[in-house]
Amino acid sequence: MPILLVFVYAFSALISLNLGSTEAERYVYESTMKQKMYNELKEINTRPEPFQFYTAEELWANEHTSKKMLEYHLSEDIDFSSRNKRFIERSVDWIVSHFAVFNDTKIADFGCGPGLYTTRIAGRGATVTGIDFSENSLNYARFVAEQKGLKINYIHTNYLDFETDKSFDLIMMIMCDFCALSPAQRRKMLSKFHSHSKQGGSVLLDVYSLNGFDQKEESSTYEPNQLNNFWSPDDYYCFVNAFKYEEEKVSLDKYTIIEESRTRVVYNWLQYFSRESLRKEFEENGFEVEDFYLNVAGDPFDSNSTEFALVARKL
Ligand SMILES: C[S@@+](CC[C@H](N)C(=O)[O-])C[C@H]1O[C@@H](n2cnc3c(N)ncnc32)[C@H](O)[C@@H]1O
Repeated sequence: MPILLVFVYAFSALISLNLGSTEAERYVYESTMKQKMYNELKEINTRPEPFQFYTAEELWANEHTSKKMLEYHLSEDIDFSSRNKRFIERSVDWIVSHFAVFNDTKIADFGCGPGLYTTRIAGRGATVTGIDFSENSLNYARFVAEQKGLKINYIHTNYLDFETDKSFDLIMMIMCDFCALSPAQRRKMLSKFHSHSKQGGSVLLDVYSLNGFDQKEESSTYEPNQLNNFWSPDDYYCFVNAFKYEEEKVSLDKYTIIEESRTRVVYNWLQYFSRESLRKEFEENGFEVEDFYLNVAGDPFDSNSTEFALVARKL
């Protein structure tokens, strides 16, 4: 074969080989990406075990979301992170009269947020401790206390780890925070409430009812910058998967937040209770239930409501 022909053959073979490998590479790349996207969407839509992950700090205490939460706490007309101002005032009036709050009554508010209850109750003379892991909310609460000349003991910690040598006449956990805890965390919380209550001391808290569970629906939605940049000041894409766990009476709102440089998943769990199931948890932890109410303002219990409140006493 003349040498020139050899070169022509070799060159065309190289070209065809090269073209083939580029197409093959592109094919492999595209199918890998499709598979990756499919796997990610599958993961996003996957239902974890009830209370498998605890991400409450990312929801409440993250630098950005804690500022957004504070705005919700302080908006006086909406019942989002705190209830509306009129309700809180009515609730404080009821708490002061029902628990006979005097000057030396010692009260602890677990998950006190920006101090909407602690400030008002301390204003009635009680000695108040507020516990929260949102530094941003506590800074606001401390600022208000200073302005009003109130001495309130604010403690920045995860309330599941809170320790003190003090004991309290009344322990409160308001706005259904108890529902965000797993069964093991609730046992831990109730044991803490028990060890930090005076003999005959009370616990006041509110929870979601089984009506609330029935009204909850499963769904999966997607929205860019969901909740008006609640999750980040930068652009993000958010998938929200709502799951129900019939047997356990638990719901989950699972938020998958995809930003340019990171992906986060925030799990918002809720346990729903009947009066019997809540009573059982308290009785198993050394309390007796004094009464059930519609809410923490002492309105009469209503079996149609999506929430209810409990007052229990340490035995
Ligand atoms: C629904 S808000 C209620 C705030 C307040 N009780 C009210 O009704 O205005 C729940 C509060 O609990 C706090 N919180 C949630 N989980 C907590 C934890 N594990 N430890 C400490 N604080 C927590 C949040 O930061 C938030 O301030």
